[in-house]
Amino acid sequence: MAVITRIAGPLVEANGMRGKRMHEVVRVGDEQLMGEIIRLRGEIASIQVYEETAGLKPGEPVEGTGRSLSVELGPGVLKSIYDGIQRPLEVIKEQAGEYITRGLVVSPIDKKKKWDFTPVVKKGQKVTAGDVVGTVPETKVVTHRILVPVGVSGTVKSVAEGKITVEDTVAVVSDGKKDFEVKGYQTWPVRKPRPFVRKLYPEVPMVTGQRIFDTFFPLAKGGTAAIPGPFGSGKTVSQHQLAKWCDAQVIVYVGCGERGNEMTEVLEEFPHLQDPKNNAPLMERTVLIANTSNMPVAAREASIYTGITLAEYYRDMGYDAALMADSTSRWAEAMREISGRLEEMPGEEGYPAYLASRLAEFYERAGRVVTLGSKEQLASATIIGAVSPPGGDFSEPVTQNTLRVTRVFWALDAKLADRRHFPSINWLTSYSLYVDHLTPYLTKEIAPDWMTLKNEAMTILQKESELQEIVQLVGPDALPARERVVLDIARMIREDILQQNAFHEVDTFCSLKKQHGLLSTVMSFYKTAMTALDSGMDPKDISAVSVIDDIARLKYVPEEKFPKEMEAVAAKMKKELKPKEAK
Ligand SMILES: Nc1ncnc2c1ncn2[C@@H]1O[C@H](COP(=O)(O)OP(=O)(O)O)[C@@H](O)[C@H]1O
Ligand SMILES: [Mg+2]
Repeated sequence: MAVITRIAGPLVEANGMRGKRMHEVVRVGDEQLMGEIIRLRGEIASIQVYEETAGLKPGEPVEGTGRSLSVELGPGVLKSIYDGIQRPLEVIKEQAGEYITRGLVVSPIDKKKKWDFTPVVKKGQKVTAGDVVGTVPETKVVTHRILVPVGVSGTVKSVAEGKITVEDTVAVVSDGKKDFEVKGYQTWPVRKPRPFVRKLYPEVPMVTGQRIFDTFFPLAKGGTAAIPGPFGSGKTVSQHQLAKWCDAQVIVYVGCGERGNEMTEVLEEFPHLQDPKNNAPLMERTVLIANTSNMPVAAREASIYTGITLAEYYRDMGYDAALMADSTSRWAEAMREISGRLEEMPGEEGYPAYLASRLAEFYERAGRVVTLGSKEQLASATIIGAVSPPGGDFSEPVTQNTLRVTRVFWALDAKLADRRHFPSINWLTSYSLYVDHLTPYLTKEIAPDWMTLKNEAMTILQKESELQEIVQLVGPDALPARERVVLDIARMIREDILQQNAFHEVDTFCSLKKQHGLLSTVMSFYKTAMTALDSGMDPKDISAVSVIDDIARLKYVPEEKFPKEMEAVAAKMKKELKPKEAK
């Protein structure tokens, strides 16, 4: 019999584990705590335990379960709030009170709930893995497509209709030799990426409604982004904005509480958030994975995998899914703690040597893909990870290894946050490697000059930073007239475009059309001002025109009124920006 030989925090060592597999789920001790084998050496297994290990004693039994750490995938996942190993927090609270009773086995999805099943396949039809057998209205806004599981194909022998529970057989598929019962749910091991046919170029933007992201450092559907930033710089607000506004159909939000009560805030706030797109609660298309600070570190390590597996599953249904993780540093720290307990050779700053490969493998699971199934279907899973480097030092290992694999870098900057410039994304150090892939889409669908305007604006911002040194030495009045205008324009770009108030009713979201409108207004002010300057207008008078205030107000104009207001501003601009004699 396998027994515990050693206990070190969340890590337990057991002897007599012959025949067990890596990543097998085991039941540990008399209380049957849930754990996972993370190292096997002969008969000795190291097990990370997903529950509080206090009170466990050497000699207590360890039992294998024969299965890997897995999630249940089926209707009922959305709207759920889970811990790192997909235990529904609400259900646990009802059954066990505020503190999770150890060894408690709770089903991740409600097995009794009745769903209205509408078949999509017919008897006699040939199906293959990934095909939709039928649908269930999972929430008000998401239709759940029940798929033929990976590895199954054949002819439909029968198909259900009407009320089902997830444990019911919704279809029987026969490959000629044996029958396979397709249930309302399936399971999948979290550490194994779900398969697809092939990855595609990331050429469709993930619209976030945030100007600094969409216009300057765009993310693609199926792409990866990192938001590193020190404490208080805006990681959580950014992730919430993305969860609310990005045009993904399904959101998986993994929270690893930074401060003690931060996750509690998320748990309280999210269920009340309205989905701005359809006025239904945001939770109708969201699943929350919460790691509060009182949860065992191993559950935090697993939560990232649980999250991405759920996102991949909705991707496989044909949806654009997005995963937000806040913050991945807490995940890396969990890895470090467990590695330390395993007495592995530490790498940089005590993180395990495999930190880089774990991060790479995680972000590699993002992608815009052709999904499995007989119909060609495109879908995506996007990953946005916040990183919280201690002291805001981006040279630390988690930030560095994340930046090596993510293709968008949204650099939060404490100095900007101090100046109340929000979102405090540094426009000089951030980048997006998707710009070239997205250019054809943006120039075709939004505006032919989308990239030109963006590049011109960026040039002005860079020019501003060069000029700043001189300004600090000798003051702006010593600059040539043209450069004084450049400084005015740079300020307008920063204040009227880059700054965006997450808490303002209108400004919180800005469509791509409106983003283009704002930028083209500012850039046309620039060009008109330069012409006026060349024909003799005084730079002081340019700085004083009242249309500058109208431009500043444009971002607060609701979408439907925007085109008209923009026209009015353009007309006023022409009138005001004229040399004195010409007026
Ligand atoms: N886009 C934004 N609009 C308005 N205020 C913001 C924005 N981003 C951040 N803030 C302000 O900064 C504070 C700290 O942001 P937060 O996201 O909690 O930081 P972090 O998660 O990096 O510690 C917020 O409470 C809010 O007041
Ligand atoms: Mg935070």
